[in-house]
Amino acid sequence: MSKEISLATVKEHSKPNDLWIVIDNKVYDVTKFRLEHPGGEDSLTSVAGTDATTDFNDVGHSAEARELLKKFYIGDLAASDIKNKKPPVGCREIGIAVGAILLGMALVYVIKRGTAKN
Ligand code: HEM
Repeated sequence: MSKEISLATVKEHSKPNDLWIVIDNKVYDVTKFRLEHPGGEDSLTSVAGTDATTDFNDVGHSAEARELLKKFYIGDLAASDIKNKKPPVGCREIGIAVGAILLGMALVYVIKRGTAKN
């Protein structure tokens, strides 16, 4: 399994000469790459030690740029730091449960009404 790195650890590497960033829950060490980045050193140092997914996507990086990412990969973001994880119980499940309960209550009501008449 690949190494898990917490966001707090990534934050410790927020200097130009020690520069980690997170993109799509993966951690990259772009210390050396910052000087070769076609988008300039500043765009990388400005997001140093943070999750730069939005910034990276906003630029509309090419497929080549995404391919290049692999060279700087050092580990995965720790599971506990991953946002927008699918909740264990989603809205869909709650909807189904509420629907089933209402249906059950309606059924009991109909049955009771039927027996009361007899
Ligand atoms: C390891 C992460 C990154 C890699 C490997 C990377 C790579 C590249 C490459 C190869 C280009 C040339 C154009 C292209 O092929 O899309 C580029 C351009 C650029 N990048 Fe990045 N980039 C990274 C992260 C970032 C981040 C986090 C930002 C913003 C905060 C950023 C901002 C830009 C900008 C502004 C350009 C110039 C776009 C243009 O002039 O058309 N990059 N990057």
